[in-house]
Amino acid sequence: MKIKEQILLMLEENKGSAISGEEMAERCKCTRAGVWKAIKTLQQEGYVIEAVSNKGYTLRTSADVLSQSFIESRLQEAGISLGVICEQQVDSTNEVAKRVSYQIGRNDLVVIAAEQTAGKGRKGRSFYSPSDTGIYFSLLLHPSISPKEAVNLTTLAVTAEAVALEHITGFETQIKWVNDVWIRGKKISGILTEGATSFEDGNMEYVIVGIGINLYEPAGGFPEEIKHIAGAVYRDNAPRENLRNLVASEVIIRFMQYYGELEQRTYLKDYEKRCFVIGKEVTIMSSEHEKIDDETVTVLGIDKDCHLHVRHKDGHESFLSSGEISIKL
Ligand code: BTN
Repeated sequence: MKIKEQILLMLEENKGSAISGEEMAERCKCTRAGVWKAIKTLQQEGYVIEAVSNKGYTLRTSADVLSQSFIESRLQEAGISLGVICEQQVDSTNEVAKRVSYQIGRNDLVVIAAEQTAGKGRKGRSFYSPSDTGIYFSLLLHPSISPKEAVNLTTLAVTAEAVALEHITGFETQIKWVNDVWIRGKKISGILTEGATSFEDGNMEYVIVGIGINLYEPAGGFPEEIKHIAGAVYRDNAPRENLRNLVASEVIIRFMQYYGELEQRTYLKDYEKRCFVIGKEVTIMSSEHEKIDDETVTVLGIDKDCHLHVRHKDGHESFLSSGEISIKL
């Protein structure tokens, strides 16, 4: 374990009370200057550590601060080998992952941030990503799969997210076809999958799956243009201890488990369980959200590529792809 991680562990064990630099140095078998350096790095990562004269250092309680070492060790414990980059603020984690992909060859990694200044949404929209309310991360992967198959990684991600959030918070999650996680009837996250194909075989060169989750309600509420639809996991903005790290690591672990079984589609049963449009009547809209006609259809289920299996009013059945249409309840 690195010195910084050992120091963090000691501070966490003594949370709220001071532990001396001397004691930490002795236990880590390093110098006082080494302890001081580790404390500075932890503070830069966002931990609120107070120096109390003649007593030592105290970790403030109830911090929900992004921690690279916490996430790395959770992934390690789960047997997942994935590079981790944690930043307080980036333009967009998808963009960082894209830039990094040109430097690191075919290594997989995850870029995690507490704030995005230029978060990207689907269809060229922006994604509201302030600090103190959410967690934003992008998985950079190199699967040898076709672009058609890569589309399933978004569905896989939405399932991983829904299951992970339920596990951590105990709240019921629902999935609105195709890729929205809902809690208490509001969309609490967004997923944007991007990638590049190889000229050699037409398969994916890399895939970036970007996930943004609203954990807390922003202090002044969501901006006017999204407040009818956007929600957060918690309805207030009081930090829950370590929530960002727990959520990010749990979603990543579940994603990687399903990803290892992509061909078998093991995520589909967990998707179907939460997909609340199954059995309902819905209106088919064009992907530009224009009504296609006045027909409502009954949703019978989904197929293995997450196409919507529907029955039309005249009794015939068809499979609808999310690339072409969206639905309205
Ligand atoms: C949407 O609902 O329109 C998709 C939003 C996707 C947002 C995530 S946040 C992490 C990653 N980085 C981005 O810039 N976008 C995705």
